[in-house]
Amino acid sequence: MLEITDLYAGYGQIEAVRGLSLSVDPGRVTLLLGANGAGKSTTLRTVAGLHPPTSGTVVLNGVDVTGQPAHKMVRHGVSLVPEGRRVLAPMTVLENLRLGAYTADKAAYARTLAEVNAMFPILADRSNGAAGLLSGGEQQMLAFGRALMSQPKIMLLDEPSMGLAPAVTDRILANVRTMANSGIGILMVEQNAEAGLEVADHVIAVARGEVVFAGPAEAARANASVLRAFLGEAALAGESGA
Ligand SMILES: Nc1ncnc2c1ncn2[C@@H]1O[C@H](COP(=O)(O)OP(=O)(O)OP(=O)(O)O)[C@@H](O)[C@H]1O
Ligand SMILES: [Mg+2]
Repeated sequence: MLEITDLYAGYGQIEAVRGLSLSVDPGRVTLLLGANGAGKSTTLRTVAGLHPPTSGTVVLNGVDVTGQPAHKMVRHGVSLVPEGRRVLAPMTVLENLRLGAYTADKAAYARTLAEVNAMFPILADRSNGAAGLLSGGEQQMLAFGRALMSQPKIMLLDEPSMGLAPAVTDRILANVRTMANSGIGILMVEQNAEAGLEVADHVIAVARGEVVFAGPAEAARANASVLRAFLGEAALAGESGA
């Protein structure tokens, strides 16, 4: 399990994350909600070792891993799927997956690749095709697959549904649930709060870097008006008719 306690992070004078605490359990989806600029990506990037915390702790299965660099965090079992997917368009699907597997030995590589291809059959079908030719939803599956190749215990997902049509969003979020059900703990930022709440177990809402709501997903669903007040109408797109 991942425990973030009283985390602060920023950019010079800008305090992007202010005293954030949350935990992510194996097999569970924790949803991180917040308006634009609330500090969601900074939180994920800080936990992933891509940005230095100012203070606070990140503890993974009892081990303090605060401030460790990204390649070490991957070895500890923490894998970030960044905003915008960042697949390498000219490389093949298989080459992209291989990039995620640099921690694995040969036997683990073959076994994990088979698991990823079973979870996302499209990646097996398009194995030798350029990643850039995949649709947005398929590229998101590739980004998930690339992260899964490092056999993570914890996955940090930054806006996986960004730019996707509603039906594709539903499929991607169903994939998130499947990954959680395999035992992985997931911390997910999702712009589409309504869709995210469907698959989440636990919800943390942040405003200007601070936690303004934390509770089980059922409580958040029942408290849509509370969330709307904190996040703005856009965060509950389904309710505002968008
Ligand atoms: N590289 C950077 N340099 C300076 N300030 C930054 C940088 N990245 C983010 N910020 C600032 O930090 C704050 C938090 O940004 P962050 O990207 O974490 O928010 P977010 O919740 O992910 O927003 P969004 O919903 O738009 O993705 C914002 O005020 C943002 O302008
Ligand atoms: Mg962001």
